[in-house]
Amino acid sequence: MGLVVVLRTAFLFSFIFCVLAQNDVDYSQFVNPFIGSEGAIPGYAYGGGDIFVGGAVPFGMVKLGIDTYEEPINQSALNGGWTPKGKVTGISMLHESGTGGGAKYGYPAQMPLTSIDAPVNLLDNLTYWQTRVGEDFARVGYYRTLFESGVTVELSATRHAGLYQYNFPSGGKHVLVDFSHYIPHPTRAWDSQFYTGGEIDIHPNGSIYTGYTSIANGWNLGPPVTVFVCGEFDETPDEARAFSGKNTFPVGRHFRSFNNESTPQPTFHGSQSRSGPMSDRVGAIFSWNSTSESQIKSRVGVSFVSVEKACAYKNQELSSWDIQQTAQAVRDEWNRDIFSKIRVDTGPSANKTRLALLYSSLYFMHLIPSERIGENPLWESDEPYWDDFYTMWDLFRNQVSLWHLIQPGYYESMIRSLIDMFKHEGFLPDGRSGNYNGLVQGGSNADNVLADAYVKGLRGSINWTEGYAAVKKDAEVLPFWDVNPVDPQGSLKEGRGALDDWIPLGYVSADRNTRAVSKTVEYSLNDFAVSQIAAGEEPGDQELYLRRSAGWQLSWDREATSRNFTGFVMPRYANGSFHKTYDITDCGTCNWEDESYEGTAFEYSFVIPHDVETMIQFMGGPSHFEERLDYVFQPNTSSVDLGANGLGITTINNVANEPDFGTPYLYNYLNKQYKSVERSRQLANDFYFNTSNGIPGNSDAGALNCWLIWQMLGLYPIVTTPVYLLESPWFDDINITVNHNKTLRIRAEGLDDGDGRQGYYVQNVSINGKSWNKNWFEHEDLGIMTEGGEISFLLGTEMKVWETGEVPPSPGHVVLEDGRR
Ligand SMILES: *[C@@H]1O[C@H](CO)[C@@H](O)[C@H](O)[C@H]1NC(C)=O
Ligand SMILES: *[C@@H]1O[C@H](CO)[C@@H](O)[C@H](O)[C@H]1NC(C)=O
Ligand SMILES: *[C@@H]1O[C@H](CO)[C@@H](O)[C@H](O)[C@H]1NC(C)=O
Ligand SMILES: *[C@@H]1O[C@H](CO)[C@@H](O)[C@H](O)[C@H]1NC(C)=O
Ligand SMILES: *[C@@H]1O[C@H](CO)[C@@H](O)[C@H](O)[C@H]1NC(C)=O
Ligand SMILES: *[C@@H]1O[C@H](CO)[C@@H](O)[C@H](O)[C@H]1NC(C)=O
Ligand SMILES: *[C@@H]1O[C@H](CO)[C@@H](O)[C@H](O)[C@H]1NC(C)=O
Ligand SMILES: *[C@@H]1O[C@H](CO)[C@@H](O)[C@H](O)[C@H]1NC(C)=O
Ligand SMILES: *[C@@H]1O[C@H](CO)[C@@H](O)[C@H](O)[C@H]1NC(C)=O
Ligand SMILES: *[C@@H]1O[C@H](CO)[C@@H](O)[C@H](O)[C@H]1NC(C)=O
Ligand SMILES: *[C@@H]1O[C@H](CO)[C@@H](O)[C@H](O)[C@H]1NC(C)=O
Ligand SMILES: *[C@@H]1O[C@H](CO)[C@@H](O)[C@H](O)[C@H]1NC(C)=O
Repeated sequence: MGLVVVLRTAFLFSFIFCVLAQNDVDYSQFVNPFIGSEGAIPGYAYGGGDIFVGGAVPFGMVKLGIDTYEEPINQSALNGGWTPKGKVTGISMLHESGTGGGAKYGYPAQMPLTSIDAPVNLLDNLTYWQTRVGEDFARVGYYRTLFESGVTVELSATRHAGLYQYNFPSGGKHVLVDFSHYIPHPTRAWDSQFYTGGEIDIHPNGSIYTGYTSIANGWNLGPPVTVFVCGEFDETPDEARAFSGKNTFPVGRHFRSFNNESTPQPTFHGSQSRSGPMSDRVGAIFSWNSTSESQIKSRVGVSFVSVEKACAYKNQELSSWDIQQTAQAVRDEWNRDIFSKIRVDTGPSANKTRLALLYSSLYFMHLIPSERIGENPLWESDEPYWDDFYTMWDLFRNQVSLWHLIQPGYYESMIRSLIDMFKHEGFLPDGRSGNYNGLVQGGSNADNVLADAYVKGLRGSINWTEGYAAVKKDAEVLPFWDVNPVDPQGSLKEGRGALDDWIPLGYVSADRNTRAVSKTVEYSLNDFAVSQIAAGEEPGDQELYLRRSAGWQLSWDREATSRNFTGFVMPRYANGSFHKTYDITDCGTCNWEDESYEGTAFEYSFVIPHDVETMIQFMGGPSHFEERLDYVFQPNTSSVDLGANGLGITTINNVANEPDFGTPYLYNYLNKQYKSVERSRQLANDFYFNTSNGIPGNSDAGALNCWLIWQMLGLYPIVTTPVYLLESPWFDDINITVNHNKTLRIRAEGLDDGDGRQGYYVQNVSINGKSWNKNWFEHEDLGIMTEGGEISFLLGTEMKVWETGEVPPSPGHVVLEDGRR
């Protein structure tokens, strides 16, 4: 541990040195921490971003914020903790941001109370939960709210510790520490989290408590996560009592009481309480006798390793107890390490809406995964440790490619951590949270992440021999079935659960597997990714995986017709025949048990980024392809009713979900870049706003936010390849710090797009002063992304075909003879 700390400090120092000069702008002032906190129904979270609201440093282990319960529950989403109108049930240290599915985290918690007399029952949150009054206030690193009880709560957080500041009105003063609190999944028992036990010790003078809580299950059905806690109050309480009580959470079938008994009362035990064999709930209540208005602060450290580490974090990271000073240090870190990596003019004439969209998007794409160096409870290793990859399915599309450019240090650390997971647990994760791999939505998409880093030359301390072994295992070894109730056929924990179809048949069959369409499309890109790393690490393997990457062609039904278009990826059976009556424009619930996951066959037929050339040919050549592409952006073409979850999207293309992220940019492959600009701008303008419902769906760990950043930069990466498409920037001058300390400058002369004006079509482009006739470039072309340089766009209102060079490449181009591999 000592060694790791020293290395990390050195790493931060190098950061401080090189960006000091650029750090005089407080970009954090432009961040709106509520973008995505609300969905389409005003006042409710459902269909919104599911974001975390509270205090956190970039990739912080601790994300301190309120947990709420909002009714009607069918219109809510508790995942991020905060909901617009929800009642507060606790204020907790660990959160996700932007995730769907069964919630994770929401522990360990405190709750300030002004009375603990009947009817309050410390084991029943319904008896003490709090409506908030007035508007919540949040800015980077700081959050404030006012409870109906009159208590003002202020929060800030460091990397491993949280600072709570309570301003009590005159009257009673108590703080409940509830180790059995977590974010529940009230409408679904099987993947809800549940509490499995804990222990709390109150230290002799009553101001310090230590212990642990263990919470199991949640989204990826993980085993219990044990978090060690060390909390302290700045004012010694007059009374501090530990308690326990029967575990009767109604949703978790594990402890369900079927005789409808009312929630029992706690039993008080002096200074110590343990769960014992019945997983009893434990906690403590701290009380202050003075009845005058006063402030009580608490600093709390957490660790996945020990109470000692939790206490050390609390003491070291929050030595000042000062919330304004703590919040300022958090903002400084965000400005230095995150926001200042992309610098635009912030002066009086700058468009403040755009500044909010840019810097808020940067904020939301740096909340998870969680950096947990020195916090791996599972194995000893000198490699870094990260958690909360939730999920690669979201992150691989373009977010990892931006981290590659602007966060090379953090990103290298993540990749080393992923490879270390493979070494110690057998497989790379596709999702990971609570120190546990899962859920796999389609393919093994960490393969795409590793390939993207590899082809762009990320080396550092990454052992690519092992990196290649990791992706090769995904491509070759069928994972053990994890008995997840939503998929009776294959593992959802890790790896590729349908490899026993994929290898012998060349596609995933619809009779032996679920999600055949989307898995076939994803496995194809995964094998292309493997071939990309093989090219450098094991050249003899490259051809094998390149051929496998054409598997989607075997699932292409040349006769399938929909809306007058012919040829689609379709569900295909093991006997070789296609599911002819499959609805190409409607995937039903589009879920785990369906034939296509979160996207129709119509949409997935466009998701072949490694071989767009064959895709265009299969769709009947460039003009048919263009017509079909035009069609998916026409209003009222979708057959899928996204309801309140869809924010009014009626096109087949669903910009709110990851599979379709790249589709608006496909016009570049026709040398009609102006159409990519037109479509993608329109989507961004129609669906992204500086408002609490300003994002079209779950932010997915920031994946949606990152899509917007690329749009604003005027670039789009083709992941697993070194290619970037050229689009149209939203600022006339952007400086980006790439490759640690080099500057990429993007300029847009002639940009004139305020208030509906359309001066954003590209007239011509030059790179490092050289006229550039292609609508794409590669990572190392003219050293642009490695050494820095300048991309200059000349923009105007004319929809111009300015590109005369080759169309973007299809490095995974494979021709199958007679439809065979
Ligand atoms: C939630 O349920 C209520 C009835 O309890 C209904 O009126 C409302 O439309 C539902 N909301 C959604 C988003 O389904
Ligand atoms: C409130 O407590 C009950 C148990 O008394 C629990 O089932 C429920 O999940 C809790 N609600 C929240 C939002 O934490
Ligand atoms: C309580 O004890 C802790 C150490 O256990 C000490 O740091 C703190 O100052 C004490 N507080 C008071 C009010 O005595
Ligand atoms: C408990 O309550 C539920 C719902 O009100 C009811 O269906 C069930 O019969 C009750 N069980 C007992 C043992 O009273
Ligand atoms: C605080 O109040 C409790 C409960 O009324 C009482 O037992 C205790 O003696 C009081 N402590 C002090 C220091 O006044
Ligand atoms: C970008 O960097 C150049 C060169 O240092 C500087 O002249 C320009 O003002 C910068 N632009 C912005 C928006 O930071
Ligand atoms: C990389 O990993 C391989 C396999 O574990 C090992 O043999 C090799 O020594 C490692 N290379 C370095 C530079 O550590
Ligand atoms: C398909 O083409 C036919 C004949 O050109 C036309 O009548 C029909 O409206 C088209 N259908 C759709 C969905 O565009
Ligand atoms: C192929 O398999 C599917 C699904 O089991 C079945 O419906 C179909 O009849 C089979 N076709 C042939 C030609 O055997
Ligand atoms: C789409 O359908 C809605 C509802 O039927 C209708 O109000 C709207 O005018 C249609 N839009 C277009 C462009 O056809
Ligand atoms: C730039 O960053 C690299 C990688 O961290 C480092 O080796 C190099 O010394 C830095 N150069 C300057 C001028 O700071
Ligand atoms: C500022 O940017 C927003 C978002 O792109 C845009 O809607 C608005 O028209 C711009 N305002 C001006 C005055 O350019």
